[in-house]
Amino acid sequence: MLNGIPTAQLEEQINMFHRLIDKYQVKTFIELGTFIGGLAYEMILKYPEMTVYSFDVDGSHLHQKVIGLPQIHIRDVFQEDTVNFISNIINSSNGTVLLFCDNGNKVKEFYLYYPLLRCGDLIQVHDYPAEATPELVQDVSENYFDLEPIDLDYYLENGTVCWRKISLN
Ligand SMILES: C[S@@+](CC[C@H](N)C(=O)[O-])C[C@H]1O[C@@H](n2cnc3c(N)ncnc32)[C@H](O)[C@@H]1O
Repeated sequence: MLNGIPTAQLEEQINMFHRLIDKYQVKTFIELGTFIGGLAYEMILKYPEMTVYSFDVDGSHLHQKVIGLPQIHIRDVFQEDTVNFISNIINSSNGTVLLFCDNGNKVKEFYLYYPLLRCGDLIQVHDYPAEATPELVQDVSENYFDLEPIDLDYYLENGTVCWRKISLN
């Protein structure tokens, strides 16, 4: 329970967000998969300076406290128009973007959305090893040299994985 809303995130996982946001001075938080809205609401309340967007294809689980908030978007993140919408959000952000993949197919989201990131932006894929699979982590470490893992062992132990896009020059 977080701010009166049930959340899928454990306390330590919430703390990881706070640390990431503070350390990298995240200006835009994009959540793919809102569900009840507990995490989105925490971000909205805790970081009034940060722009929050949360997307879900199904609004039927949303808590009363988040229904109708402008930060909540009922859209399918695999639709081209949503990808374009999120691409515009990323490109117009005036600072670090944290893209949190917590949706129906997290690996697919990662491969779809990773190319949209700018240098310095962060991408986090949730539910290791069930959904953020070991194969994904291995593929990134072997082939995606512009992604730097953040505290890999610690994040994996806590069921998630996070990378920062860096310049190769
Ligand atoms: C694990 S829950 C999200 C939990 C939430 N991030 C939290 O921390 O409380 C996954 C959500 O992804 C949504 N989802 C599944 N497929 C989707 C799609 N194609 N586009 C948008 N949302 C989708 C589901 O409706 C579900 O609410």
